[in-house]
Amino acid sequence: VDNGLALTPPMGWNDWNAFGCNVSEQLVEQTADKIVSSGLRAAGYQYLNIDDCWMGKSRDSGGNLVPDSTKFPHGIKGVADYVHAKGLKLGIYESAGTMTCAGYPGSLGHEQQDANTFATWGVDYLKYDNCNNMGIPARQRYQAMGDALAKTGRPIVYSLCDWGEENVPSWGGSVGNLWRTTGDIDASYGRMLAIFHQNVNLAAAAGPGSWNDPDMLEVGNGMTPTEDRTEFSLWAEMAAPLISGTDLRSASADTLAIYGNKEVIAVDQDKLGRQGKPVSMAGGLDVLAKPLADGSVAVTLFNENTTPAVISTTASAIGLGAAKDYTVRDLWAHRTTETAKAISGFVPGHGTVMYRVAPTRRPDAYAPNVVVDTTGS
Ligand code: DGJ
Repeated sequence: VDNGLALTPPMGWNDWNAFGCNVSEQLVEQTADKIVSSGLRAAGYQYLNIDDCWMGKSRDSGGNLVPDSTKFPHGIKGVADYVHAKGLKLGIYESAGTMTCAGYPGSLGHEQQDANTFATWGVDYLKYDNCNNMGIPARQRYQAMGDALAKTGRPIVYSLCDWGEENVPSWGGSVGNLWRTTGDIDASYGRMLAIFHQNVNLAAAAGPGSWNDPDMLEVGNGMTPTEDRTEFSLWAEMAAPLISGTDLRSASADTLAIYGNKEVIAVDQDKLGRQGKPVSMAGGLDVLAKPLADGSVAVTLFNENTTPAVISTTASAIGLGAAKDYTVRDLWAHRTTETAKAISGFVPGHGTVMYRVAPTRRPDAYAPNVVVDTTGS
């Protein structure tokens, strides 16, 4: 939606995948500390998002939402102040229904009062769930909260969590900044793969301010390191929100390195804001291409199968025409090579190779009198 926010896909963290209802002020603040000390803030991670179960079981006598005072002794405002002081932003959760999925008070019919509450607390992001919705059309319920958020005057990123229902990719962009395109992810390769397949053909709906959301990242939660890199690569290729769903406080160095891969993040965060599209997906050997603002193309080669395979494409297939040769940057090996022919990679089972491909720019293109060595040395 055109509210000036999320011009690139939101990046941050959310407690749900790793902690379920065990959310607390301490967890959010310790995670904020880790995002700073690990370098993830510098890499672009910004939002600390609180999910379901942050509330008390009922509204107060004025009808206001109340934080659970055991989980949040300083209230949501206290956490917002804490993360803001660290240069980060705070997200909150509600449901467009009578109750949240976990049974806490919902925002249906209370949209303006709750939006005002969030704005007063200093909330920067709302994830708006779809439980207990009384069968009222999603678009109507989500628009009501969108209007209420706009009326607060506070910039609040608006994340629609309606699980891909009621054809949300066709209208989500006029209501919110991102919309879930699927049911819930879990930390299994099979579920991640199914969600990828559901999200990968929706590129037409994505652009600055409006993103398909294939759910939060499971990197660090139990898939293999190869599968973790695959999830991160595919989500970046699809210009998906990069919202970590793991316990960053205890994350391994490998997990933090995946979340911190700046070359892959740059693909996700590219200013052109295009979601990568399938070039070919035959036999579980997938080639995706995402045009980037500088004229290069991010190419992801994904082997869905268990046996290793060579996956290949060509410059013309990925939309780079007739240059003489191409510079190929491997975004996981951090190595640059050149090719005049195929763009190709050896890809382990469930693995991914990710390249940034550009027509090779030689000095002679700018200074015709300079003699350059083009033998490839
Ligand atoms: C369903 C959503 O899809 C999840 O991401 C999570 O927010 C839970 N509800 C919380 O109850």
